[in-house]
Amino acid sequence: MSTGPLLHFTPKEGFLNDPNGLVQSNGLWHLFFQWNPTALEAGNQHWGHAISRNLYNWNHLPTALFPNEDGGLIFSGSAVVDKHNTSGLFKDSHGRIPTNTEGRIVLIYTTHYDDLETQNIAYSPDGGITFIKYENNPVININESQFRDPKVFWHEETKHWVMVVALAQKLRIAIFRSSNLKNWEKVSEFGPAGLLGIQYECPDLFRLPIENTEDHRWIMVVSINPGSHINGGSMIQYFIGDFDGITFTPIDKIARIFDYGSDFYAAQTFSNVPNNQVISIGWANNWSYASDVPAKQYRGIMSCPRELSLRSMPVNSEAQELVLVQRPYNTEALKHPLSEPYPLALETVSEFPPTSICGTRFYLCATIPVSATDSEKLEFMRLRWSATSDVLGNKQYIELGYRFSDGAVYIDRGSSEASWKNPMYSERSISNLPAILIDDKMMVDFGILMDQSVVEVYGNHGGKVFTNTYHFSEGSEDSPLKYYYLALPRAAKLVKANVLPLF
Ligand code: FRU
Repeated sequence: MSTGPLLHFTPKEGFLNDPNGLVQSNGLWHLFFQWNPTALEAGNQHWGHAISRNLYNWNHLPTALFPNEDGGLIFSGSAVVDKHNTSGLFKDSHGRIPTNTEGRIVLIYTTHYDDLETQNIAYSPDGGITFIKYENNPVININESQFRDPKVFWHEETKHWVMVVALAQKLRIAIFRSSNLKNWEKVSEFGPAGLLGIQYECPDLFRLPIENTEDHRWIMVVSINPGSHINGGSMIQYFIGDFDGITFTPIDKIARIFDYGSDFYAAQTFSNVPNNQVISIGWANNWSYASDVPAKQYRGIMSCPRELSLRSMPVNSEAQELVLVQRPYNTEALKHPLSEPYPLALETVSEFPPTSICGTRFYLCATIPVSATDSEKLEFMRLRWSATSDVLGNKQYIELGYRFSDGAVYIDRGSSEASWKNPMYSERSISNLPAILIDDKMMVDFGILMDQSVVEVYGNHGGKVFTNTYHFSEGSEDSPLKYYYLALPRAAKLVKANVLPLF
């Protein structure tokens, strides 16, 4: 059996945090990431790099960006494909412009010093393998020490590059624009707004289609850390609104929560994706305990890739509201054993509906009528590290469930670790998941993507998502779990359940 997460990206060694520079180019998905190769905690920040054809199997590439010689660290940022060479950076040694327009990748990143953060660019001379820092960096310096995480995209209507970037401790998102990625003009600001916290980080701004309509809205995403309203640590909020190339105008003052679990931060969308698909990846972790979780080789894991859209949902008999919908991207890819780059052993699952399911990784969808059970709770799943007690006499498990009494999804990780105690991790995390009307019945709908050390729950067809990591004291993120099981009380009748083969 393979060990470690298979459906989620991890580094081979060192400490990983935010996804950076998500971009598609020449049919390949590029994932850059905040990476400290020299320790199991954040500090010596580089940009690591990996590529994939399906967003689940990744090949590791050489480090994309190293700290500056003067000690400036490479903090978060984004990537674009400069197809029309607006930057003028794409010339070969003879002054000719390479014809592979799709390979003209520009990275936009923050350089961090203790008293200064600036925005910088780097470009690839070889279609996205190596990167050269622009000689006239920084491209933006406003003498701020808390000014980071530029996310850049092309705004077709105004024919400009647009950057959203955090004035972290002022709780504001600055919006800049440029015609060439080198000269930037500040055009507006957004915030403070919604949930405040202590710092705003890693903003994103993108257009999202509204399901079953020709319409769309713009989404402003703002990560908050610390001071989240879920557990005091890290979380992401988003605003729905319009954007005219200059100003983001929210449709209301409501701050909505991107993911209700404890472990989803600094998410970013891919640029240059065909067919207006919006795909996002987040860091599945929380700064409150990111440096404490058990680890041997590496620390840090990404969420799975998620396709985003907006859905209009009834709030009551009169009103509708727009909700962000997230689905694991291309789960068809999970049906086939992934062969590259990891050799995988395929484990089979028994036919559904079983009362228990054993295996190591799976994607399971189930719809359960709420009236079918008089149980107080549905212990949807219990992940066991070992059937026996550990040295301290604790049985190690995490429990993921749904309580019919108050319609709450909960995850209890308090029994899964003994050696490192952090209340932000151990406290039971609970969130409301209302039943919805499906085929004239009130139903609870789940999709569960289970992998070693992380479980993502997609409630109500992706309308409410919970991401949580889990760790056992005996092992680390790269140790195998003994088994999982899914326990359903007899009274809870599953009306639909699909299980993809396990890996
Ligand atoms: C968010 C963050 C960013 C910063 C990076 C440093 O997790 O704090 O604001 O650029 O991590 O690693």
